[in-house]
Amino acid sequence: MSTRTSQRVAVIGGDGIGPEVTAEALKVVAAAGVQLETTDFELGAAHYLASGDVLPDATLEELRGFDAILLGAVGPPVGSTEVPNGLLERGLLLRLRFELDLYVNLRPFTGTPGAPAPDCDFVVIRENTEGTYAGEGGFLRKGTPYEVATQGSVNTRMGVERCLRFAFELAAGRPRQQLTLVHKTNVLTFAGDLWQRAAKDVAAEYPGVRLDYNHVDAACIYLVEQPGRYDVIVTDNLFGDILTDLAGAIAGGIGFAASANLNPARTGPSLFEPVHGAAHDIAGTGTANPLAAIRSAALMLDHLGHAEAAERVFKAISIYLAEHPAGEPFPSTVAVGDAIVERL
Ligand code: IPM
Ligand code: MN
Repeated sequence: MSTRTSQRVAVIGGDGIGPEVTAEALKVVAAAGVQLETTDFELGAAHYLASGDVLPDATLEELRGFDAILLGAVGPPVGSTEVPNGLLERGLLLRLRFELDLYVNLRPFTGTPGAPAPDCDFVVIRENTEGTYAGEGGFLRKGTPYEVATQGSVNTRMGVERCLRFAFELAAGRPRQQLTLVHKTNVLTFAGDLWQRAAKDVAAEYPGVRLDYNHVDAACIYLVEQPGRYDVIVTDNLFGDILTDLAGAIAGGIGFAASANLNPARTGPSLFEPVHGAAHDIAGTGTANPLAAIRSAALMLDHLGHAEAAERVFKAISIYLAEHPAGEPFPSTVAVGDAIVERL
């Protein structure tokens, strides 16, 4: 069944393998029967080097008018010095997260056969607009022997609470109804205290959800040794960044990890992207794994109201992975996309 919609998706293929994996993701979306109106945007390292632009205000305003954004990956080759450090991260990726109020970064992890944690099935809810990413801080006496650099962690009650509420809501809808707050309350006694109090308060609204707490260092051990203990994890921006790379590694590899940067209030588009980067070393070789991008596109379908099509994509990926465990020789980017289409 084909559903023609007037939903408009902005596609930022980006750099390196980004355009290759988004092409497969869009192929699968079309094959799942959802016809979206797509518009390509040239943004990223190559675009910056060609134009000097990172994210012009007019482009940001244009993006606000779309129903969703699908992003491949942006960034220069590792070791390249042409693009200043942090320029694309702060000026493009974080700017989009902050300006579009994408306050939830949802990262689901479903174990891949053959992976260290083949049976894991959990979701990390990473706060996406605050913490150490907020940009608070600066230098004093830079370049002198007495220089000082500070980088504070910004935690607002409102920002923390809305992220927690999203996580509780998600946990309440899952069979295990279990939520783990991950922080470092024994050392970060201000931020951690706010998170913990807010979590206790919101928990009162969700009596069916069991709320647990782990320190982030212990959570790293548990993720490796007993990943099955997790159902939904909620954590701050930086802990979530680090934990989701670890989670990706245990669940099959970063090539499988998808993410949804959500504006749950729907005051603008949400953004969907694989967790991996531009991987210039394999760009153009046809060997990039498109499954993280395809999964991200499925998260986008779900967000856009095509839950049934999204479910079919996730199922097709599971069927494919049962036949092709992690670590086995990988056919090619396009062949994997085709294989998912055949299994829809
Ligand atoms: C991620 C990435 C980004 C982050 C970088 C590229 C800004 O690592 O999406 O996890 O730190 O959030
Ligand atoms: Mn990261």
